Amino acid sequence: MSAVVVVGGFFGDEGKGKIISYLALNDKPSIVVRGGVGPNAGHTVVYKGKTYKLRQIPSGFVYEKARLLIGPGVLINPEVLLREIKETGIDPKRLGVDYQCGIIEKTHIERDRKPDLKGRIGTTGTGCGPANADRALRVLKVARDVPELKKFLTDVPGELHEAIDNGLPILVEGTQGTFLSLYHGTYPFVTSDDVTASGICADVGIGPKHVKDVIIVFKSYVTRVGAGPLPGELSEEEAARRGWLEIATVTGRKRRAAPFNFDLAKRAVKLNSATMIAITKLDVVFPETAGVSDFDKLSDRAIHFIREVEKKLHVPVKIISTGPDIEHTIDLR
Ligand code: GTP
Ligand code: IMP
Ligand code: MG
Repeated sequence: MSAVVVVGGFFGDEGKGKIISYLALNDKPSIVVRGGVGPNAGHTVVYKGKTYKLRQIPSGFVYEKARLLIGPGVLINPEVLLREIKETGIDPKRLGVDYQCGIIEKTHIERDRKPDLKGRIGTTGTGCGPANADRALRVLKVARDVPELKKFLTDVPGELHEAIDNGLPILVEGTQGTFLSLYHGTYPFVTSDDVTASGICADVGIGPKHVKDVIIVFKSYVTRVGAGPLPGELSEEEAARRGWLEIATVTGRKRRAAPFNFDLAKRAVKLNSATMIAITKLDVVFPETAGVSDFDKLSDRAIHFIREVEKKLHVPVKIISTGPDIEHTIDLR
């Protein structure tokens, strides 16, 4: 029981990058492994005054002793991956890509930018959907076919299970969010794979008995990019007035916004078998909490919100984020 899995509870962009980088520095896992769809995701990590936007490298890279792996269920765009190795400045020896990661090529990106996908669904246009479609047709190239990736190739499930057998802690990084899941989301306005905790575990090759905790990340309000239902959606003016208007990491699009949704959150807790909750952007809804790292210094109304979440979802809130920086975190574990 040594794996901790982090997943998104709404429609992605809950701040998983921030939570994962915090957990990596604090919990010191021997491996941080990335699951999820591929470079459609953009995790933001703010560390030592620098901001990183990560589409392929695990957000746990900030903990320098961790091995960084990408599971076979994750799509790779070699150009994006190689660029991020440079941008993060990581030692390339830390990184392992599974032999069977699917490869995104130019044709997938072109197909993803056509009206049936980018237009109708509002995809990120990063080629993920068409690449996963080709994978299902068994015609997609995989990492072992790509010379530039040769030095990173490894057996990711093999490395994970060796660590598990030795009792070493592992951090499993999910991307996107529960309601973008191909199976459990608002189909057809979803991504091209399951992104709930079980799907993320399948991406990297570990089964349920090795999962110690599933940390579900909820933002203090809900955002969504692309088409599809968003219950309680605010007008752009109202979202801007509340300070909830965000710009998407990968595509630069405006994110649609709505208040925290307890019905969605309840369902997400179940679909992921969440054992604890991380709440992000508390400071955006309650500005007086900005940068607070001590629970007792939160305002009464912010504490009331946290308690309401716990009461309605029957899962404890164990991590609270009050700012983009890794230090702006309250850890109640
Ligand atoms: P996906 O995998 O694409 O779903 O991304 P994500 O869940 O990692 O979220 P993303 O990084 O796209 O968006 C979160 C944004 O909020 C980033 O700009 C973070 O720096 C910022 N952020 C995270 N936590 C907090 C917080 O508690 N307060 C504030 N003010 N900003 C935060
Ligand atoms: P695709 O994953 O690019 O095919 O896009 C399908 C849907 O998922 C679109 O609504 C995208 O905006 C959304 N999506 C995919 N990845 C992310 C993410 O990381 N954050 C937020 N939305 C995403
Ligand atoms: Mg994002």
